[in-house]
Amino acid sequence: MQIVHTIADLREQLRGFQRPAFVPTMGNLHDGHIALVKQARTLGDVTVSSIFVNRLQFAPNEDFDSYPRTLDADAQRLEAAGCNLLFAPREKELYPQPQTYKVHPASELSDILEGHFRPGFFIGVSTVVLKLFSCVFAGMPEGVAAFGKKDYQQVLVVQRMVQQLALPIEIIAGETQRAADGLALSSRNSYLSTTERAEAVQLLIALKALGQAAKGARLAQLPELEAAAMQTLARRGWKPDYLTVRRRSDLLLPQSEALASDPLVVLGAAKLGMTRLIDNIEI
Ligand code: PAF
Repeated sequence: MQIVHTIADLREQLRGFQRPAFVPTMGNLHDGHIALVKQARTLGDVTVSSIFVNRLQFAPNEDFDSYPRTLDADAQRLEAAGCNLLFAPREKELYPQPQTYKVHPASELSDILEGHFRPGFFIGVSTVVLKLFSCVFAGMPEGVAAFGKKDYQQVLVVQRMVQQLALPIEIIAGETQRAADGLALSSRNSYLSTTERAEAVQLLIALKALGQAAKGARLAQLPELEAAAMQTLARRGWKPDYLTVRRRSDLLLPQSEALASDPLVVLGAAKLGMTRLIDNIEI
């Protein structure tokens, strides 16, 4: 596997390829990322990953400075997974000047849930993803990029950006990878203390219980069920932002009275101690 740090070297290495398969990451890789890389390998003629902790998507009170940077271990894991090329730009390479041209995904989809609790998050994500796409795919007839479903809303925001900007890039959503107890793998799990780690699976348990209750419920009962699910976590010491049942296609509230008939997803975000965890399950 080649490791490159500049856009020029990346493009040089990609010369002659027709369909890169790309997995953008912020590093501190876990089996979820590795599964995406293995999936990507089957989809393009060269497999590229990037590691870049993107300041633009962190609010000032968030964990940009403490976000784990583990480039050597990550590079080894990527190589073992069959990745061909790793793009690991320094901040000055990707943002040589303050990034004043940004992608503002102005839609309800990007303002709700994560967009509501992390204002500016999807502006930062969309901007860096478009810029990384430009680094990897410029001049290519087509490409494919893989994102994990754990960040369900992020996948939809990126899919919509690609559609609306007519980028010739197919977006693939990889299944969430889970630890033996069910906890969704996330780079932020490494922040959890031993007791918090044992407790962390309760988010998934609460999402499953909410999904189960929603299936037999009517639309009007949803707010009550969601509030009860949040209370269950709050009683255990969590600080939930949301636990909610939404339409898979646009994450808006379900419309049809018969909840069981709509393709739905149950999404949740909650803080356990200092760590904010998110997860979701399709029902
Ligand atoms: O999901 C992530 O790790 C990041 O949001 C991404 C897509 C790499 C953009 O920085």
